[in-house]
Amino acid sequence: MKYTHSIKYACFLVVVISVFACKDFEEKKEALGLKNAATFPIGTAININRLLNDAKLQKLEIENFNSITATSDMKMQAILSAENKYNWKTVDTILDYAQKHNQRLFGHNLIWHSSTPKWVREKGEKDSVWLDDFMQQYIKTYVKRYKGKVAAWDVVNEAFESSGGNYRESLWYKKLGKSYIEKAFRYAHEADPNAVLFYNDFNIERDTVKLNAVLNMVKEFKAKGVPISGIGFQMHIRMDIPDEVIANSLKKAAATGLQIHLSEVDIIFNTHNDERLGGIQNYSVLTDEMKQAQAEKYKNLIKMYKEIVPKAQQFGITFWDFTDRDSWIKGFFNLKDWPCIYDDNLQPKPAYFGVLEGLKE
Ligand code: XIL
Repeated sequence: MKYTHSIKYACFLVVVISVFACKDFEEKKEALGLKNAATFPIGTAININRLLNDAKLQKLEIENFNSITATSDMKMQAILSAENKYNWKTVDTILDYAQKHNQRLFGHNLIWHSSTPKWVREKGEKDSVWLDDFMQQYIKTYVKRYKGKVAAWDVVNEAFESSGGNYRESLWYKKLGKSYIEKAFRYAHEADPNAVLFYNDFNIERDTVKLNAVLNMVKEFKAKGVPISGIGFQMHIRMDIPDEVIANSLKKAAATGLQIHLSEVDIIFNTHNDERLGGIQNYSVLTDEMKQAQAEKYKNLIKMYKEIVPKAQQFGITFWDFTDRDSWIKGFFNLKDWPCIYDDNLQPKPAYFGVLEGLKE
């Protein structure tokens, strides 16, 4: 009788221990995400409605990331598509989500030629005094509303031409001159003195003339006390952009002492020409060799960031969508490609493990 009791008791213990062990394992599995392998924030850009309507996407997003950027929902076109009709609803939803899941909310972006609503362009063309005043009102209203909640902003996005060192001939530049950029930083800083303020651009990892122009602007800003805190490298790169070129650019940018954000990372195989719907489809099929090469490229990028950018300046790395299914490349350039770390079926690609290794090494 005594033995039967002991056996029963032992069996009970085994069951209890296994249940807890399984639970523990489940938790560990959950916790195995990119963010846990990193010493700086790891983010993704996302469309919030897509995210909220896709449980699988959401699970992966929560597992992997502790920073979040809206692909387009926080741009001027989304906030103020018509005069005096601020639309905060979507931003509030994103903020709720970020807070619920302990994610840093990154504000992308305040001023961008490509997201200036038609009504602003029309009015601004006719009246530069109005445009100047509008920019101030817009930035202050927006940044104040999310003061202490949006951790950082891309204050001005893509103020230089796609290639070379000239300021982009945008409405803002044509009407207000280059001073619109520093004004935008000052307004944002006034509205939230603790927000980290970035200048963000593309191709600066490969186009030395463009990077030098950005760095000259930064130098000018520092001399004048313009409150810029960081440089965002969008880092929409291609497999054939040499790592050494990228390393060199990161080194030069890090020498400013500013925060460095890899803000929109993806890696494509085909060639686009930086214009909507423009590019050459060299590759139509993704082979295993290509997947491996992409993994290596992702890993090297992460390693370069860790090695070159001093720890105190590592603001983080943000992927521009994290699945090939949702990537902007297809729609924007009309190119089939495989830029992201998860595939069309939301399975991790070798690229995902490349990133993980890069973070761990
Ligand atoms: C892209 C979005 O991902 C797309 O959904 C949208 O149609 C166009 O804009 N540089 C930027 C981002 O700074 O805002 C762009 O995002 C991609 C290029």
